Amino acid sequence: MRRDCPVQHPGRHDPGSHIRAAFSRLAPSYERMAVLERAAGERLLEMLAVGPQDSVLDLGCGPGHLTRRLRTRTKGKLVGIDLSAGMIAQARWRTQRTGITFLVGGAEDLDFDGTFNIIFCNSALQWFTGPGRAVDGCYRALRRGGWLGVQVPATRQWCSLVRDVMTVAAQDPRTSEDFRRFRDPVFFMATAEEYVSLFNRSGFEVHDA
Ligand SMILES: C[S@@+](CC[C@H](N)C(=O)[O-])C[C@H]1O[C@@H](n2cnc3c(N)ncnc32)[C@H](O)[C@@H]1O
Repeated sequence: MRRDCPVQHPGRHDPGSHIRAAFSRLAPSYERMAVLERAAGERLLEMLAVGPQDSVLDLGCGPGHLTRRLRTRTKGKLVGIDLSAGMIAQARWRTQRTGITFLVGGAEDLDFDGTFNIIFCNSALQWFTGPGRAVDGCYRALRRGGWLGVQVPATRQWCSLVRDVMTVAAQDPRTSEDFRRFRDPVFFMATAEEYVSLFNRSGFEVHDA
């Protein structure tokens, strides 16, 4: 992955551009509002049992609030990556002198090889435009025996409220700028078994879904 601001070629299809733009606009207030994501992230932290020497990637790290929580658990290499430059600017600003590296980049373009022993991915996979490519990249980025922990908001059926909220937000003048292009971009699978297949296809053994 190229460090910082991957070049966007004019005219080239960029499927993540509206997601990147929307999250950059949300970035300054995201941390304050992310009550649900924070609670789910804490649970994922517990499940991954991050230890003091672990080398960790926080994929789709947003403004780095959970990356900072990871820092309290490990002194090892810690990298946060997010598609949104606005989110990464917030993360850098809020996380000085902690030795965390924050990079702007897409999960689909990971370029690490056996670098981490844990990848933490909270509330982000559902936004990836190429989830299969992202999971392949995670597999390559992990050392043998490493762990990928992913929290996604279950199935579309379970999350039907999200669709209703987006429809309303797209019409409300206060939020329409952010939401008007959100025509069902969210990646959901129908069952836990489908998620298991997604991870199995990249070579992962799934221990809990
Ligand atoms: C709901 S926020 C979650 C942020 C943080 N992980 C948390 O739990 O609060 C989703 C994040 O995924 C990022 N994102 C969306 N698509 C991405 C992609 N293809 N690659 C990397 N990050 C992406 C967004 O910019 C956003 O910061």
